[in-house]
Amino acid sequence: WVLYAPYVKAINELKAKRNAVILGHNYMTPEIFHGISDFVGDSLQLAIKATEVEADVIVQCGVHFMAETSKILSPSKTVLMPDMDAGCSLAESITAEGVEEMRRRYPGAPVVSYVNTTAEVKAASDICCTSSNAAQIVGAMESDTVIMTPDQYLAQNVARDVPHKNVVWWEGSCIVHEQYTAKDLRDFREWNPGTRLIAHPECPPDVVAEADFSGSTSGILKYVTDEKPEKALLITECSMASNIADALPEVEFVGPCNMCPYMKKITLEKVLWSLHSMEGQVEVEPEMAAKARHAVQAMIDLSR
Ligand code: 13P
Ligand code: SF4
Repeated sequence: WVLYAPYVKAINELKAKRNAVILGHNYMTPEIFHGISDFVGDSLQLAIKATEVEADVIVQCGVHFMAETSKILSPSKTVLMPDMDAGCSLAESITAEGVEEMRRRYPGAPVVSYVNTTAEVKAASDICCTSSNAAQIVGAMESDTVIMTPDQYLAQNVARDVPHKNVVWWEGSCIVHEQYTAKDLRDFREWNPGTRLIAHPECPPDVVAEADFSGSTSGILKYVTDEKPEKALLITECSMASNIADALPEVEFVGPCNMCPYMKKITLEKVLWSLHSMEGQVEVEPEMAAKARHAVQAMIDLSR
């Protein structure tokens, strides 16, 4: 923390000068999560927060699709992305043409796109979802067949929870969560009996089936806070456990974990530079933003 202190001080001063807020995702490193973020949370919480804050500037400490979502919802605000290369394997797996291909394959079926998509893909979709409301959104669709893009595993996990729907999916995946296997979890249980295994729904369905609980990053936090297991293994990105460990001293968080190389592109130095230079402003073409806003807002309205 001694090394980080000058950055934290400078960032907090610049935040006041620019009338800026920092929205920090649960996968940010602890110095960003605890040191400089004004609001922290999962994708849905951050999307909603973007609509509520009154600041002139939002600094998105997360990945690019999250900054785009903030810009879509708050077009008059300046949205800064400290590193434009902080992408996401899911967002990169599909384009608007992919959405149209799914519509041709399943005529009349609504398209529910994960928020981990570009503005172009959101604009081509009927409604968005996050991992905390995906089953609720899919369940609320009128059609029997529902197209989910782009995460095949989230879609398969939702299909299990909403058995009355015929869920079809695009073949994208998260490079962090797809690495876990059901055998990893079985082996871990054998070697570490009594550890609670908690998986993000971007994990393959056989991994989720081996876990004691599955939920979005905020769902994971709520579960651990309510249950306070003696030992917990979070089957998700490494910073999740680091960020919540201090507030839960009675829980021992055990490894291993997987790192998201995109999330880890965001550093204190880059946040300081973006606030200083005002470089890295995220723009979304207005007509596309209006269509994408419709899909994101429909999700927010349904999940309130
Ligand atoms: P959450 O919505 O659960 O925060 O997930 C976002 C994400 O990118 C997980 O990989
Ligand atoms: Fe994308 Fe996976 Fe990284 Fe989340 S953890 S930003 S889904 S690559």
